Amino acid sequence: MQILSKTGNELALLALKSDLASKGDYLLIEDEKSKRKMIVQVFDEEYLSSQALLEDIVKDEVVNASSNENLHDPLNIGILSRMIRDARIFKAKIRAAVNQYGKLSSDITWLPSRVDSRVRLLGISELCGFLGRSGVLPIPVGKSASKGSEEDFEIYAEDLDGRLNIITGKKESGKSHLSKMLVKTLIKHGAFVVVFDLNNEYSGLAWNKDGSPSDVQKKIMILEPGKGLRFSLRYCGKAAISDMLKNALDMPAASLREFFRIWDWLENKQSLGIDAIGNAINTWNINELVRDALVSRYHVIQASGLFADNEEACFQFENAINHNNGLAIIINMGRVGPTVRRMIVEIVLSKLVDLLEQGKIHPIFLFAEEAHLYIRDTYWEDIITRMRHFGIYTTFITNQPDAIGDGVYRQVDNIFLFNFTNDSDLDKISRVSLADNDTIRSIVRTLPQRYCLAIGKVVCDLPIVIKVAQSEVLTLGETKKFFKKSA
Ligand SMILES: Nc1ncnc2c1ncn2[C@@H]1O[C@H](COP(=O)(O)OP(=O)(O)OP(=O)(O)O)[C@@H](O)[C@H]1O
Ligand SMILES: [Mg+2]
Repeated sequence: MQILSKTGNELALLALKSDLASKGDYLLIEDEKSKRKMIVQVFDEEYLSSQALLEDIVKDEVVNASSNENLHDPLNIGILSRMIRDARIFKAKIRAAVNQYGKLSSDITWLPSRVDSRVRLLGISELCGFLGRSGVLPIPVGKSASKGSEEDFEIYAEDLDGRLNIITGKKESGKSHLSKMLVKTLIKHGAFVVVFDLNNEYSGLAWNKDGSPSDVQKKIMILEPGKGLRFSLRYCGKAAISDMLKNALDMPAASLREFFRIWDWLENKQSLGIDAIGNAINTWNINELVRDALVSRYHVIQASGLFADNEEACFQFENAINHNNGLAIIINMGRVGPTVRRMIVEIVLSKLVDLLEQGKIHPIFLFAEEAHLYIRDTYWEDIITRMRHFGIYTTFITNQPDAIGDGVYRQVDNIFLFNFTNDSDLDKISRVSLADNDTIRSIVRTLPQRYCLAIGKVVCDLPIVIKVAQSEVLTLGETKKFFKKSA
């Protein structure tokens, strides 16, 4: 490969067909005279086209079509001409430089020599060596998808710790698959994870494909609303219930005040409970409109099955978390309606913040699938700022990048980008993400299924294409089909 030209922070490199490199690959340009090196990333590939070359191709085609005779070519010039026609131009972004002492530097103001430079593929392990990328809690995610060599690639749990992550890509591109892999390894490393699972698919983490229990089965706790997921009113506390009534059930302020008057009265009598509240609402001396508002909300609360009076049968986060070394609490929300989903989210998040504030539980990794379906608008900011400080570290998984506000993207630390072909999605994601526009547009548009572009802290801010590994655990969550494919 040869350097052709430079515009801005882009280099154009001339390559022959035998020079293998694909979009996303890193190249090392070694300037032999100055002993400096430059690290660049290929983001696009084009044919070498000049007017003369095009005319040549057309002429050749016309000659071939109009005569059957073999052309006399004793010096084998035809081969050379074919090589030129197949020459291509790699467009590459300058990412970093290595100074004469072998240290990574951000000084990329110099130009490598066109004559004395050697260009070669840079393997991911070598790149990580330059970056000094290391960690103690690895999460193997698959292989680096480089043309030259496929190397195992891992990210480090430390780089997800305390961070905001987004996994996005079009439908069925492999987002949930990657997210399950992260959850599985995090709990193996002893972390506590809460998953808002919209498709009831994360429960597959407890089983291997062959039906045997997986090695993390003991660390998986599946909660179904109304079964495992039941709270007592006293455990939730006034703040969480108030959030739920206000935000998930749109309770007017006047009714909310009456509700908590009833609550206080029952609490004084030591008889706070879901049935007792129902009875009190019916007999309480209040305006009929307020009573109607209370009765309608009360019915929703009762029908949700989320509350019970028997404290022993109720779920308590601190009991689950403090008795385990690593645990995934999977909240199955696939079978409940939007209102109950919102109620669950309000209670769970309020309660987790409350417990973290009191120092009763360890920090939590929260995985939220399609969060725009159940997280209210004003909550996003809360999650990424306030809750982060308390110790809730969120990963959003979505196939609608525009459902997440710009404010969230601005705070994001890591993005795992799967394929997008739709222009408006690409627009959105390239406008707000951590890497430059050209890289995202060009690489992401042509990513095959199950490949993702990792951007951010996990890859030391150098975008890397990863081929996500298969998993040995049961994968649920496939779209149910009416027509079965015949074997
Ligand atoms: N790296 C992989 N290796 C093998 N199979 C995979 C891989 N990634 C995804 N799959 C399979 O592809 C299918 C779709 O993956 P997945 O459910 O993760 O997609 P998704 O992006 O979450 O889709 P949706 O938008 O519908 O939620 C699943 O059956 C999954 O098992
Ligand atoms: Mg999914």
